[in-house]
Amino acid sequence: MDKNWFSTPQEIREGIKYLSAHFYPVNLMERWKILKKFSFEKAKIITNYSLQQVIEEIEHFDFFKEYFKEDPLTTVRLPDSYIKLFDGLVEDFQNEKWKDNVATRFHMITEGVLATVGLKILNETSKKYNLIEFNEGIKRIIEDEARHVNFGFSLIEDKEYAVRRIEELFPLAIQIIKDGKDKIELLGYKIDDLISLMNELKNARINKILSRTN
Ligand SMILES: [Fe+2]
Repeated sequence: MDKNWFSTPQEIREGIKYLSAHFYPVNLMERWKILKKFSFEKAKIITNYSLQQVIEEIEHFDFFKEYFKEDPLTTVRLPDSYIKLFDGLVEDFQNEKWKDNVATRFHMITEGVLATVGLKILNETSKKYNLIEFNEGIKRIIEDEARHVNFGFSLIEDKEYAVRRIEELFPLAIQIIKDGKDKIELLGYKIDDLISLMNELKNARINKILSRTN
């Protein structure tokens, strides 16, 4: 943890903790324990970068776990919309179209839209408040996540279905951001601006899916 963490303004710490809990939902890890098992099982089938990705995700958990040791994320309550997103992922893994379902819900919506926005805020805010150790960790995660999103494109088999799923899930992603309004706006961001950014990211992912030739 940065030595200036506790001297950082309280609303900034709260906002950072709130967003960080979305990346390391410590209170909900037990609920989604099965996701770790599914991820490793499927990584064996997919091969290539898949196993590396699962390992990187675990390392991301470890970064937040370690960083917030003295100011635990257990105090953060995540919204029902967020719980719904990941409960859906458990179902997606058990579906016969699991590749398209996981690629859209996890790689496109969760990583490609929500995490991209969340990490941007965490990166900019930690830089602004000189939280150097936190900022270095976030920058590493941003690099990994860009690769994860790219990997997600290779999982998609049914392009039309994938685009439809992204559009269907997008309102839930918007809801998650709206549910965090109070905390996020204290960090100096307007929800409407973030929704515009999410739209741009979503459309960019869709265009990339549609332009792929395989
Ligand atoms: Fe990831």
